[in-house]
Amino acid sequence: MKKQVPLDKAKWLVEPGCVVLVTSGTMEKPNVMTFSWQTPANNADPCLVLLVINHIRYSYELIKQNHELVINVPGEELLEQAHFAGQVTGKNIDKFSQSGLTPVAAKMVQPPLVKECAAHLECRVADIFKMQTHDLLVCEVVRALADTELFDGKWIPEKFHTLHYLGGNKYGVMDRAIEARGRGKTPM
Ligand SMILES: Cc1cc2nc3c(=O)[nH]c(=O)nc-3n(C[C@H](O)[C@H](O)[C@H](O)COP(=O)(O)O)c2cc1C
Repeated sequence: MKKQVPLDKAKWLVEPGCVVLVTSGTMEKPNVMTFSWQTPANNADPCLVLLVINHIRYSYELIKQNHELVINVPGEELLEQAHFAGQVTGKNIDKFSQSGLTPVAAKMVQPPLVKECAAHLECRVADIFKMQTHDLLVCEVVRALADTELFDGKWIPEKFHTLHYLGGNKYGVMDRAIEARGRGKTPM
């Protein structure tokens, strides 16, 4: 049996991309915020990633100041830190020191990397599209790095478990790869 889902709950049917920690600001005054509304939007170089951000986020204030951010990919072991950075605003507190995360200077942009994360995408915000309560940030990736033990061109889910938001305080983890036999060309 299938039952109609209220439209304000429909997003949970297509959630969850992997949860990311987005850093903004500068090395001297950084902030970190949790996102699940993210998607890659280009196969080529430059790689584009779209982020959806609520107008009221403190991070958005910082992003508008220098149009730079870093997308950091946490694993299962950073569950508590990721949840914390998604519940508390950095307007009046230092979320890095409060959560035990370590800011490390990026190479191409002003916001820091989160050292404990397995991968980092340094980005410049190329475009902003106004929407209703949220805006769409088109982020151009200018540098990307990942832990070679965990990423060999694809994540190795047996070794690295990305977090996937299910709502409330619940998360799923990706912990195994399966292979389709496939009858056509690889799509991406
Ligand atoms: C798992 C998770 C995912 C979230 N995803 C988003 C998102 O995609 N966009 C958004 O605007 N807020 C999202 N939030 C809410 C922000 O992370 C949260 O409001 C945060 O405290 C904002 O921090 P800031 O005020 O320091 O910028 C998410 C929260 C959690 C826990």
